[in-house]
Amino acid sequence: MDDKRIFIFDTTLRDGEQVPGCKLNTEKKIEIALQLELLGVDILEAGFPISSPGDFESVRRISEALREPIICGLSRAVEKDIEVAADALKPARRARIHTGIGTSESHILYKLHSTQEKIIERAVAAVKKAKSYVEDVEFYAEDAGRTDNEYLARVCEAVIKAGATVLNIPDTTGYCLPEEYGAKIRYLKENVTGIDKAILSTHCHNDLGLATANSISGVQNGARQIECTINGIGERAGNTSLEEVVMIMRQHPYLGFKDGINTRLLYRTSQLVSESMAMPVQPNKAIVGANAFAHSSGIHQDGVIKKRETYEIIDPLEVGVDHSKIVLTARSGRAAIAYRSKQIGHNLSKEELDLVYQEFLQVADQKKEVNDDDLSAIIGKVVVTVS
Ligand code: KIV
Ligand code: ZN
Repeated sequence: MDDKRIFIFDTTLRDGEQVPGCKLNTEKKIEIALQLELLGVDILEAGFPISSPGDFESVRRISEALREPIICGLSRAVEKDIEVAADALKPARRARIHTGIGTSESHILYKLHSTQEKIIERAVAAVKKAKSYVEDVEFYAEDAGRTDNEYLARVCEAVIKAGATVLNIPDTTGYCLPEEYGAKIRYLKENVTGIDKAILSTHCHNDLGLATANSISGVQNGARQIECTINGIGERAGNTSLEEVVMIMRQHPYLGFKDGINTRLLYRTSQLVSESMAMPVQPNKAIVGANAFAHSSGIHQDGVIKKRETYEIIDPLEVGVDHSKIVLTARSGRAAIAYRSKQIGHNLSKEELDLVYQEFLQVADQKKEVNDDDLSAIIGKVVVTVS
């Protein structure tokens, strides 16, 4: 396996679905799961089977329906959770149990009322239990972002010995800075005995808007799996956005990272998730937002019309968006008016363009955006005046 192959672990249907008001029924989840399979995700976290009969059923049905990705089910470090996850995953061609426990001081003291040593014992027992059902066991050290590195390394070492194949290092509260998170991954790479037997995974939340940056810093420092969601949905401020990390790796090929995503399906997948969850994508969202390839100021429009690359680093076709948009607003210039007029069938002379532009400014000051009908009406008026 290529040393720089990055595995994309999609958790849209688990962490993503934890967003208040975004609950999906099983049929919708299967539809999204099939789309994620087409998209090319390597691992699909289908749900948290013990959490409800509906989630159990969704994980089971997704395990039946998909052939390509590894299907993963979440559990706490609790025997019953692991048994139920294993049961739900039975039909999967390749199954993974994702189990874990909090490792930060605040989780151990206030949430779990326990001690560091007891947490290691519980972590090891959970991994062994999961290992009795499946070969592929991922361990998460919840709140690893705020866990002391030396203790985190001891936890990792113990769960690798117990059979964990993937170590998830979640920045559960989105606290870390990119350099700090990257240094944590590097520390584990350099200080955990047996680390070569496991894959390190990033799982970054977006409370400070750093989830994507932290995930990239993680892989630059040795992680080989990124946990992420479509549109970056997830608990609170969300999770790492799949489309962002993938396009960062594509835009910076010299980093050498490879993934198996068909980027041309990113926009369609984003729309499906957004519509299914009734969760609109913010217009300025990177890669998939309505304005990601829209240009409205005259200076930018002039540049893009002359050569798209002047103001776009990504070809919209590469992510499944038909074309860049030249939006007509009061900030637009003559180049944009001429361009859009031509698109609707009017090749304006210089004299006509000057007149259309003056009239356009009057209309644009009244309206947020001048659409094709408005432009047609302006041209009709001016062309009559000229001829
Ligand atoms: O953010 C987190 O720590 C999680 C774990 C359950 C993996 O979602
Ligand atoms: Zn999470």
